[in-house]
Order: sequence, then structure tokens, then C-alpha cells
Amino acid sequence: MTIISPSLLACNFLDLREVCNMLNESEADWYHLDVMDGRFVPNISFGLPVIEKIRTATDKPCDVHLMIVEPGKYAADFKSAGADHLIVHYEACPHLHRNIQQIKDLGMKAGVAINPHTPVQLLDDILQSIDIVCLMSVNPGFGGQEFIPHSLSKIQALRKRIDQLNLPTIIEVDGGINLDNAGVVVQSGAHALIAGTTIFNAADPKKVIHQLKHS
Ligand code: DX5
Ligand code: ZN
Repeated sequence: MTIISPSLLACNFLDLREVCNMLNESEADWYHLDVMDGRFVPNISFGLPVIEKIRTATDKPCDVHLMIVEPGKYAADFKSAGADHLIVHYEACPHLHRNIQQIKDLGMKAGVAINPHTPVQLLDDILQSIDIVCLMSVNPGFGGQEFIPHSLSKIQALRKRIDQLNLPTIIEVDGGINLDNAGVVVQSGAHALIAGTTIFNAADPKKVIHQLKHS
């Protein structure tokens, strides 16, 4: 069954406790938490204190997506704040292997996110070491953008490679996921869907989570 990871970037932060209660009751598998630094991406979101609070409101795994430069400086802090998965950007990490080792040594699952222009083939020499690939289907930095269609062939190629190598690596697809494209994204090989706007702008977010899960 497809893993669903709602991106809280699109929720109403004034209602954070109710949002967590709703997600806990829903079929959502993970919480996707987008951290932006205004340097790696042209936007600033939220950081450690907010994640610390969210951690106290759920037992579901927190999938923390770091859109920041020098993520290694903060990996231990995100572990303390409650991250279960720590995802760093390929484009932000000249010493990616070291970053991955650090995340694993801290006891978290390690993920690598790639921007729309980054070929999946560049992951070939790190794929065996990572738990999650976050394949960006929009340019990171903002919620509510349109899914980039070329992402589908990237998902297919990556899934083929992961299956060839018989790896347990999870492919999560992040950005522009909606009820119209979720099916084809899963058919292309995604294991996990991240969705913000589609879930939190809906009149019935739990129903949308259910629909995404069964797409
Ligand atoms: C984009 C973030 C995404 C985003 C997804 O920089 O990484 O997780 O919040 O939001 P939607 O589903 O609205 O594209
Ligand atoms: Zn994200």
C-alpha cells in the first residue's frame, strides 16, 4: 500500500494541535516536515522548536526534509527534536556520503532529495547506503506548485534501478501531488506520496488522505 506523508507546510499553523489530531486519526503514515533556510531555497519555513512540539503530538514517524545548506551542522539537533527520517539535498552536500553516515550513526533513516534537474543516475554510487530518495517533482521552496511531468520518467528509471539491485530504498515523490496524478505517480514506481495543498485545502482532509492511499 502506498505510504502517505502529508506536508504540514500547507496546514494552518494556528491549528497545529487539531491538525496533528486529524493526522493521527487519518490513514497518513508519516508527517512530512519541510525546513527551509532562505539560502538553499528562496523561502524560510519553520525549524527545530516547531518540530519539537509536533513530536509531542504524534507517534507517527517524522519525515524531515531539510532544504538547507550545510545540513551536517544540524543533524544532531534534528535528531533531538524528534526526526525519524532526515532528508538532505544532493545539491547541498559536497560530502554526501559523510552526511549519510552521520544521519545513520545518529539513529535516523537517511534520505537524499534531488531537484528536478538532477538526474537519478547521479545517485548510483550512494543508493546502497540510503533508506529514502525524495524525488522532487517541483522546484523546492514553495507548496502549491504544479507537478513537473518529466518527473514520471525519473521515477520509472529510479524504481527500475532499485529493483535491479534488490534494494529496500523507498522512493517518495514530493510536490504537486493531487488526486488526478497520484495514480500515475504510483504506477511509475513511487512508494510514498507527499502532499500538502491537496490535503490541507480539502474540505475533508482525511478523505483525501484515504483516496491518495488507495490511488
Ligand atoms: C516543497 C516542499 C514540499 C511541499 C509540497 O519545497 O518540499 O513538501 O510542501 O507541497 P504541495 O503538495 O502543495 O506541492
Ligand atoms: Zn518536502
